[in-house]
Amino acid sequence: MPGLPARRAHDPAMIKVSLISLGCAKNLVDSEIMVGHLRQAGMQVIPDAENADVVIVNTCSFIDSSKEESIGHVLRAHEDRGLRRRRSGQKLIVAGCMSQRFAKELPGELPEVDAFIGLDQVTRIAPIIEQVLARSGKAGAGAEGGGPATFVTPRSTYIPDYDTPRFRLTPRHTAYVKIAEGCNHPCTFCIIPQIRGRHRSRTVESVVAEARQLVSEGVRELNLISQDTTFFGMDTWDQRPNPRTPVDSSRGAALTTLLRQLNSIPGDFWIRLLYTHPAHWSDELIRTIAECRKVARYVDMPLQHISERMLCAMQRETGGDYIRDLVRRIRSGIPGIALRTTFIVGFPGETEADVDELCSFVRETKFERLGVFRYSQEDGTRAARMAGQVSAGEKDRRWRRVMALQREIAAEVSARSVGRLCKVLVEEPGVARGEADAPDIDGRVYVSRELPVGEFAKVTITRSREYDLLALPEGEEPAEWKTARMAS
Ligand code: F3S
Repeated sequence: MPGLPARRAHDPAMIKVSLISLGCAKNLVDSEIMVGHLRQAGMQVIPDAENADVVIVNTCSFIDSSKEESIGHVLRAHEDRGLRRRRSGQKLIVAGCMSQRFAKELPGELPEVDAFIGLDQVTRIAPIIEQVLARSGKAGAGAEGGGPATFVTPRSTYIPDYDTPRFRLTPRHTAYVKIAEGCNHPCTFCIIPQIRGRHRSRTVESVVAEARQLVSEGVRELNLISQDTTFFGMDTWDQRPNPRTPVDSSRGAALTTLLRQLNSIPGDFWIRLLYTHPAHWSDELIRTIAECRKVARYVDMPLQHISERMLCAMQRETGGDYIRDLVRRIRSGIPGIALRTTFIVGFPGETEADVDELCSFVRETKFERLGVFRYSQEDGTRAARMAGQVSAGEKDRRWRRVMALQREIAAEVSARSVGRLCKVLVEEPGVARGEADAPDIDGRVYVSRELPVGEFAKVTITRSREYDLLALPEGEEPAEWKTARMAS
């Protein structure tokens, strides 16, 4: 085995693995599960690819740009090993959504790779590595010269449990908890259901057991994730013959049960709901969030559009009036809630009037957090075959229009915080996040460097920039405030 002496190849403790995790938080949890299993098998997980016997790239394949990024990382990892003579036997494994989605095509298109694994192989990563290392010969070609090995299985069904070996890659104080996997929605633009499979939920007991463990380890923020968090538990009874039939959300009590049980775990921590689909919100869910003080006053709810025509073409299972009413009910039922949403512009058939309607909705609603995507024409989706595809230039113009509008709103929202006393979670020296800021996607609160990292602190917001805030510890205030008070 070139690059790895025979004695080391048979001893897992001598095998060094480096992992690059791309894509979303769901993929990050998969990376954490792989690292957990590698460590359980006794392998060394190291940060620098240079000294690794095996490099794993855990890829994303949501839209064109994420595929390009993933391929870029794979090719760079291959080039880098070519430059390192001493470890010319280094193996390259591609995992994750791109590997799952293009299981047939990739082995031919990326012969540099030694092995491809799919989403259901994350728990088998250690024996797979041993198998890959056992194939001697030129990196990428395999001993038999037969090209990359592929371990991908079709139709992902895997879901982790509370005792699944996992090594968290997030800072100590914050954790992602994958409560479900897969998606049953028929959105015409999205490839993820084809990659991640049908929705399957964990049990309430399994999630609560994991949460208890995380809180006991000092975690201050549980970020609940899945493809559709509000569908949690509904898959066990979802027998709709036609996926276009709206789901009766009142029947799904699992998420509210889960939130109430998580809220009752002793300790000071936030529970954050990410990726909620608007179709499954219920009044009971709104009431539950309002009553559970540990559930952050923050909701991530991708709406994608507001125009009836676009929602229908996207098959979002919601309409404009429903969305407007839901936003009103959430805002009035959960005082102080910060709403994050995302929209897609440039969907096939979108007209200037649709964009006008979207802009009016954004202007009226003043979402606290908002992201805009340019529609990406993804092979294998129904929208990709629709007439009326919008040019890249036009998508860009529409994207800039909505983003410019949101920039003004974000500045307004941030300015409203000035003078308020807030609880923040200190991320690193001098940088914190508020209740309305999810990790990685939202703004920051710049605080005193003295505040302890990984702990909550009370601060007074003293200034705002577009998306970020500046704060002083509770009880302190800027000199100009004192002067202004004395002058008045
Ligand atoms: Fe990408 Fe897969 Fe997440 S496609 S966005 S890594 S679910």
